[in-house]
Amino acid sequence: MRSFLTSPHSPTPRIDLDETVEENGPIQPDQAREDLRQDPYPLPKEFEWSLIELGNAKECTEVYELLCANYVEDDDATFRFAYTADFLKWALLPPGFKKVWHIGVRVASNKKLVAFISGIPAQLRVFDHQQTLVEINFLCVHKKLRTKRLAPVMIKEITRRVNLEGIFQATYTAGAYLPTPMATCRYYHRSLNPKKLIETGFSALSRNMTMQRTVRLYRLPAETFIPGIRPMVETDVPQVTALLNAYMKRFSVAQVMSEEEVRHWLVPARGVVYSYVAEDRQTEKITDFVSFYGLPSTVIGNTVHNQINAAYMFYYVPKGLGEDLKRLQSLIKDALILAQQASFDVFNCLDLMQNASFLEDLKFGQGSGNLHYYLYNYRCKPVPRDGMALVLL
Ligand SMILES: CC(C)(COP(=O)(O)OP(=O)(O)OC[C@H]1O[C@@H](n2cnc3c(N)ncnc32)[C@H](O)[C@@H]1OP(=O)(O)O)[C@@H](O)C(=O)NCCC(=O)NCCS
Repeated sequence: MRSFLTSPHSPTPRIDLDETVEENGPIQPDQAREDLRQDPYPLPKEFEWSLIELGNAKECTEVYELLCANYVEDDDATFRFAYTADFLKWALLPPGFKKVWHIGVRVASNKKLVAFISGIPAQLRVFDHQQTLVEINFLCVHKKLRTKRLAPVMIKEITRRVNLEGIFQATYTAGAYLPTPMATCRYYHRSLNPKKLIETGFSALSRNMTMQRTVRLYRLPAETFIPGIRPMVETDVPQVTALLNAYMKRFSVAQVMSEEEVRHWLVPARGVVYSYVAEDRQTEKITDFVSFYGLPSTVIGNTVHNQINAAYMFYYVPKGLGEDLKRLQSLIKDALILAQQASFDVFNCLDLMQNASFLEDLKFGQGSGNLHYYLYNYRCKPVPRDGMALVLL
């Protein structure tokens, strides 16, 4: 999950979902470099800023350990996201990444990493306007240092460093409701290993259901359905890029990816991102694409299962670019089968893009929380769920 907070200084729209907004546009104008603050914001004296080198195994492990013990938990403190070190490198080192946006806070005396925030560049289209902005993620303060107002300083500092690179807009998501989201989505979960999910408390056995009947309910075919579906390989990148950008035109808010970005984000990397294409056997052209990423969660204090292995829907393109909802359903069903074969316990997605069309038929259950999408320093009219096509990690 992603996270970012607005501070009192954040120019996000203050009014509730404003249906009257007709013009997209920045809330505050860009500032000249010389008018920006040149020095880092001061931290309380026992702490210091530290740039994190994610390519360095030791520093990457430090971030991994910080997040593993202190990052987002569910409301009952039963599960906590456990982003792996490989995942963090994938998430934070895309084309055009900037080390200055991988910001750590250390204890000055012993150099222990106690807080982190990050940004990565992306091209985002919001209605008919496209621009570079940053995606903010992985804001985390060590549990022992909470409520010391470190988070607002970290947010101001990353904003300053992003501004110094000539970027004045950002996007981020949070479970918390802050003024004012551009879109609000719901999480949905599809059990792949219902027995384990019930044993960990992730899901509950429904009334009138036995474990055996539940297992049968969620059983999937052993074989995929779409002919010619196979793992994506590097040589598929140009075709997948073209298909993805064509399909994304359906939606109001979408990332625009270059071939270089598709290579980074979508060529499979074991344990991190899984992508498949379907190829027409006669024309040898790719017709469909589907991907998901792997994000385990620690099961806090469970002696039998210490992790849930969750797959999260990433991007997809069904044959016919979304006109044929039956084909989309077959594609996603194949993704469920492939995720189960890759040992995932649950398949999660939001109700964005065209997902609402298959959730019920494919036996997804509604999750408990909302995920709100925010734009920093940009105003636009509210985006319905089926107009949203941005997936943040
Ligand atoms: C989120 C987190 C970094 C905040 O740090 P903190 O030490 O609790 O809070 P601080 O004292 O530094 O800052 C307090 C400010 O942050 C805001 N804030 C704290 N947690 C927040 C949250 N989850 N969502 C929105 N705002 C939040 C407070 O409202 C307050 O701002 P305000 O006084 O202007 O309203 C910390 O709780 C954490 O690491 N949580 C686990 C990871 C996580 O949840 N990340 C963010 C997910 S949205």
